Amino acid sequence: MSQEEIIIAAENEIADPGSKGLSVGIKGTKLELFIVKKNSKITVYENSCPHTQGPLDWTPDQFLDMDNNYIMCANHGALFEINNGLCIYGPCKTQSLKALSYTIKDGNIYLML
Ligand code: FES
Repeated sequence: MSQEEIIIAAENEIADPGSKGLSVGIKGTKLELFIVKKNSKITVYENSCPHTQGPLDWTPDQFLDMDNNYIMCANHGALFEINNGLCIYGPCKTQSLKALSYTIKDGNIYLML
């Protein structure tokens, strides 16, 4: 059986650097996630902070710090590396965001289930 894929965004609808949050319905449940693009590289994470399991954003689609160098949780200021989701500052230091598998085909980003 082949792996199921769901289209979640067009690659060019995300600014570089930039981020976008969205919610995807999967088999009756809702998965909250966000996409980050920096230096043409895409990363996709579950929108759940390791500190409280709540969403990271207060402002829609805003997941990066002011310098666009880290993913930032708006709740208590935790900073995460963009490439691997590792928390390097804040109450969940050394914990990580949950990375989600994706693939890019024909300019679209697909979540792999
Ligand atoms: S909820 Fe993210 S740092 Fe506290």
